[in-house]
Amino acid sequence: MKAKIIGVGSCVPSRVVTNNDLAKSVDTSDEWIKTRTGICERRISDEDTSTSDLALGACKKALAAAKFPAENLDLIVVGTTSPDTLFPSVSCILQYKLGATKAAAFDVSAACSGFNFALTIGSSFIENKTYKNVLVVGADTLTKYLDWTDRGTCVLFGDGAGAVVLTASENEAGILASWLKAEGSLGYHLIMPGGGSRDPEQKHGRFIRMDGKEVFKFAVRALEESIVGSLKLANLKIEDVDLFIPHQANIRIVNYTIKKMGLSKEKVYVNLHKYGNTSAASIPLALDEALADGKIKKGDIIVLSGFGAGLTCGANVIKWGG
Ligand code: ACO
Repeated sequence: MKAKIIGVGSCVPSRVVTNNDLAKSVDTSDEWIKTRTGICERRISDEDTSTSDLALGACKKALAAAKFPAENLDLIVVGTTSPDTLFPSVSCILQYKLGATKAAAFDVSAACSGFNFALTIGSSFIENKTYKNVLVVGADTLTKYLDWTDRGTCVLFGDGAGAVVLTASENEAGILASWLKAEGSLGYHLIMPGGGSRDPEQKHGRFIRMDGKEVFKFAVRALEESIVGSLKLANLKIEDVDLFIPHQANIRIVNYTIKKMGLSKEKVYVNLHKYGNTSAASIPLALDEALADGKIKKGDIIVLSGFGAGLTCGANVIKWGG
């Protein structure tokens, strides 16, 4: 039994913030941001929009694309590190707002790798025949946790959500393999210190703190390791892959991986110039755009690979459609 993707959807806030907009309030420039990250603009949600609002938009589109009624869902899994509240979870809010009354629902915390972790969990429930129909979501609004005076982090992130509908299938298409990893010993390089049980009053601040250079080093290692690891599990070679969709954090991380692994640039999908790093939303958002751009056809082999806080990384190999 395989988990097959039958619908994809995404949602971003309407407000576009360009590099030049940021340069008006912090000591940076369009040129620095473009050269060092590849990012040109990002979407930033307003005060009244939370992670579940974007996730709901993405889920409705994914369910519509799949022509699948929410009330038939068995499970909702959301990868997020910026939930509306510590509880209830974003997935429970979605379960209620979608009318998915039969579905169990929980969130997964793996930061920018959140979608890979959620997709792995969702597909496993189908493979082991516990459930038949699962909604998997990646959604984050990390711009709400940025220190807008810290030019080292505030230029990098944007908000968004992406979702896929999985269904049980006995044909050859679907998730072929999933590979996940955590390196908790490196967790201190990327941390949101306040708001958890160690500091509920956020005395240590409520902003993302990151050692960019250390995360960069991990990212290039993690992308390669996750691609190689997942393809090995799927019994496939690099040459078998039609499209790589890496986590959209920084074009230099993507280009370094292309060069190091000898990948063909045309086979690597990039949309980070439009959205920045949208954390757990990054991969499903890119998947949705790659489909809309006609980059994916039936029978294609696709690798989704992510890395993020934890530190964590993961990849999923998919045979598309059919
Ligand atoms: N504008 C202008 N100058 C800047 C900016 C900015 N926005 N940010 C930093 N600088 C300056 C620094 O102060 C430094 O100046 P100095 O030489 O006078 O000290 C100089 O630019 C170089 O800074 P570096 O930090 O060395 O720049 P680097 O080339 O490493 O790029 C970056 C920084 C973009 C953050 C990079 O390290 C990176 O992308 N790291 C990975 C981040 C990442 O992928 N995070 C994923 C998070 S995933 C998750 O789970 C949330």
